[in-house]
Amino acid sequence: MNLLDIIKKAGKEERAIGHFNVGSFDMFPAIARAASGAPVVIGVSEGERAHLGLGHAKDMARSFGFFLNADHTRTVEGAREAARAGCDMIVFDAADKPFPENVRLTREAVIAAKRARRGVVMEGELGYIGGSSSVFDAFPQGVVIREEDMPTPDMAARFVKETGVDLLAPAVGNVHGMIRPSAGGGSSSGGNPALSIRRIKELRAAIRVPLVLHGGSGIPDEGLRAAVQAGISMVHVSTELRLVWRTALQRALAAHSAEISPAKFMPEVLSALEELVARKMKLFGYD
Ligand code: G3H
Ligand code: ZN
Repeated sequence: MNLLDIIKKAGKEERAIGHFNVGSFDMFPAIARAASGAPVVIGVSEGERAHLGLGHAKDMARSFGFFLNADHTRTVEGAREAARAGCDMIVFDAADKPFPENVRLTREAVIAAKRARRGVVMEGELGYIGGSSSVFDAFPQGVVIREEDMPTPDMAARFVKETGVDLLAPAVGNVHGMIRPSAGGGSSSGGNPALSIRRIKELRAAIRVPLVLHGGSGIPDEGLRAAVQAGISMVHVSTELRLVWRTALQRALAAHSAEISPAKFMPEVLSALEELVARKMKLFGYD
């Protein structure tokens, strides 16, 4: 089965494919252990691509049986390059642009990428959810969190029709990164805003392509579960992986302060990562 069919099948089964961003090669085996054979998409942002090298990331992904996504690609040329490099999927992101420009650029990217690699799965983004997978002390500026600002079913249907995307990632109360409760964000409990499950259901009913949820970090388990049941077929997670990787590394280095062999202290780091990915996969319906 190709990636698009796998995503559609997951949606029909009320499950979601886990999409995990990597910034370091040692994350691959940890994710593979957690996934234990379930389909997984590995995402590399433009920054992560520059660090890892797209070709190496692709070889690694292939060797573990993962699909590879060129995540948040911001130029048409970048989309063409990612398709030529053999990515299975490309997220084209012009969500910070006004709607007509987002449509125009996304359509151009879809045409260019599909010409370069037949069958590449193209995703478009609708509604700005912030740019960075970081932990924020202040609420990120300009992100869409009020239901009245979220893409409407009509807008989403138009976007899909006019761009030709295979997948749609709408703003439904999700934001990139994790917001500290002290930042006084969008929900009464602080931290990340609440998802609009109602809007997810409305969008699901209005469009025929699978829906993707970005900004999977910082969303409570019940929110993620409800989103998947409402019609989300893929969930992106990055910040929580980065946080666990770094925190576990700091802890491991402190516990083995004289140790210089990564083979001695990295297993603890990768176990922590594996545990997190396994927990998310279970929430998404794969256990
Ligand atoms: O594309 C990447 C994701 O949307 C990650 O979002 O950093 O909030 O988990 P996150
Ligand atoms: Zn994202």
